Amino acid sequence: MESLLAAGAGGVVAAAVGGLVAVAQPKNRSNAPPAIPGLPIIGNLHQLNETKPHHTFAKWSKTYGPIYTIKTGVFSVVVLNSTEVAKEAMVEKFSSISTRNWPKAMSVLTDNRIVAASDYNDFQKMAKRNIMMGMLGFNAQKQFRDTREKMISSVIRTLHKLVTDDPHSPLNFREVYITELFGLSLTQSLGEDVSSVYVEEFGRDVPKDELFHVLVHDMMMCAVMADWREYFPYLSWLPNKSFETTLFTAQARRDAVMHALIKRQKERIARGEARICYMDFLLEKNSTLLTDDHQLMLFLWESILASADTVLVTTEWVLYEIAKNPDKQERLHQEIQEVCGGRAVAEDDPPRAAGPHARPLHETLRLHSPVPVLPPRFVHDDTTLAGYDVPAGTRMMINVYACHMDGGAWDSPEEWLPERFLGEGFEVADRYKTLAFGAGKRICAGSLQAMNVVSVAVARFVQEFRWALREGDGGKEDTMQFTALKLEPLHVRLEPRGRV
Ligand code: HEM
Repeated sequence: MESLLAAGAGGVVAAAVGGLVAVAQPKNRSNAPPAIPGLPIIGNLHQLNETKPHHTFAKWSKTYGPIYTIKTGVFSVVVLNSTEVAKEAMVEKFSSISTRNWPKAMSVLTDNRIVAASDYNDFQKMAKRNIMMGMLGFNAQKQFRDTREKMISSVIRTLHKLVTDDPHSPLNFREVYITELFGLSLTQSLGEDVSSVYVEEFGRDVPKDELFHVLVHDMMMCAVMADWREYFPYLSWLPNKSFETTLFTAQARRDAVMHALIKRQKERIARGEARICYMDFLLEKNSTLLTDDHQLMLFLWESILASADTVLVTTEWVLYEIAKNPDKQERLHQEIQEVCGGRAVAEDDPPRAAGPHARPLHETLRLHSPVPVLPPRFVHDDTTLAGYDVPAGTRMMINVYACHMDGGAWDSPEEWLPERFLGEGFEVADRYKTLAFGAGKRICAGSLQAMNVVSVAVARFVQEFRWALREGDGGKEDTMQFTALKLEPLHVRLEPRGRV
């Protein structure tokens, strides 16, 4: 996995732009978006081989404007860099750009049979409806409220214990949070926070931290793997052994672990022990989508993966910024206390109370977007964007990072300023202040859960402790894997505030 780590976010785009089947090339165009100069045969591929390609895309947009074309091997890719043109593509022109275009690694892992990977069709619509009804929609989320509250309380207890046991050493926040958050994902998806499971193919019990690695971390690392053959379909007959070995090993391990987890829950259900969770919902509903065991496995794996990964990434970045900005932290704490007094923040606090702790989340989703480049799309009908002709057969990248760093849309975009969401035009209940969750019909299905978990968890953590970064960690903002996970786990010094 080390080599994948080194590929970093560079691979995200490389993989994303490369993961395309051979299709007809766009026709010659007179009113095409400007093209970024590149080299013969490889096009712009050599310019994308770095850790943060979304930065390169943003830089190019300063010269070429918010929409331009690049070449990745034989393929033309239109790159969008402003909120206006991104929304035009995702909302107004959706009927011409509704197809996903995942790279090979994602297609293999998902079989294109999960909500996020499927093209927009009857299967996708029904599958999205199912995950909303069974786990992520407003009513379903109410059923998991206790589980979320227990999770947050458990993190706080562990943090207090660590601080009491060793008040002088910084602690690794990720290590504490990941176990509890993954437990929440397992409970919502399977009905049980599993501490270990016997996996036949491994010949042993697999503990929870390894389950997380197999089901979440390794998958997110695979998602950034680029197979160079994808840029040159005429070379697809050549072997790429290291790519295939890494991908198929990770896939086999994921399948083995998921089957063991599902087997255990099927035994529970057979004993008559129904639980409120996505798995029981899917089986009870006996959905026509559940054509085989593999489909059930894919749906459940998606729900575990999506709810554990992005929420971890986001929470860590919010707390990093809070710890790095003591004045803003104190102001946030004061605002929360004014509304809640000595009482712990709760999810159903009136908007006044939801306000202060929602703002750091929105601002972090802007500055550290967990998905800096949206899942790639494919233009299947001739269309226009920002006045340019974009023909069928073009691939599309939407650079959320550039949209969020646009000085025309955001004052001082490089700075973390939660207060920018104060005042008119920003409703607290609005989850879509930025493009962090995408937009239009393919918008994130889990945004409510993300808000429920992250905003309340962060507010409660700030009520309990004064947060400070470990000395020297102030500028450590590198990222890795498909979603922008902090490269260095967050290490903090915590001082209990003595709230209760
Ligand atoms: C802060 C946390 C999160 C962020 C930033 C985030 C971001 C995103 C983004 C950018 C997309 C793609 C949207 C597009 O292509 O236009 C997406 C899709 C999706 N997300 Fe999230 N997500 C988060 C949390 C979650 C959670 C907790 C779940 C729960 C399982 C989830 C489930 C999904 C699903 C199922 C899709 C596919 C929707 C579709 O293709 O129609 N997400 N998310």
